[in-house]
Amino acid sequence: MKYSEKVMDHFTHPRNVGEIEDADGVGVVGNAKCGDIMKMYLKIDENDVIVDCKFKTFGCGAAIATSSMATELIKGHTVQEALKLTNSAVVEALDGLPPVKVHCSVLAEEAIKTALADYYKKIGRPVDFEIEKSHEGEE
Ligand code: FES
Repeated sequence: MKYSEKVMDHFTHPRNVGEIEDADGVGVVGNAKCGDIMKMYLKIDENDVIVDCKFKTFGCGAAIATSSMATELIKGHTVQEALKLTNSAVVEALDGLPPVKVHCSVLAEEAIKTALADYYKKIGRPVDFEIEKSHEGEE
């Protein structure tokens, strides 16, 4: 299997790994098939800007690379912008993933949306978006 240089870079030197103790939103998602788990922490200020985000992934290299890239893409951006981030945009930013590994990138999108839903609930805002779980049942 051939990975792009960017994937290898984010896999070997993942950005924003860790935890945020007083996170405003936390999302934990898992891929039932491979058993990989991702935990996403978001720190959001009063203007709805994601000032910090960290993740922990117990998963494959593609899952680590996509979560690393996804955190880079949402950090400093608003909640609304983060909600628009799709797994294909993350894959594109990584210069592609082998087709059998594309489902791993969905974990990152799902983790971010789950953390944002958690934030919405905490501040009493109705969760008006869907969390796609398109990797379920896929290889
Ligand atoms: Fe499980 Fe990649 S094989 S997330």
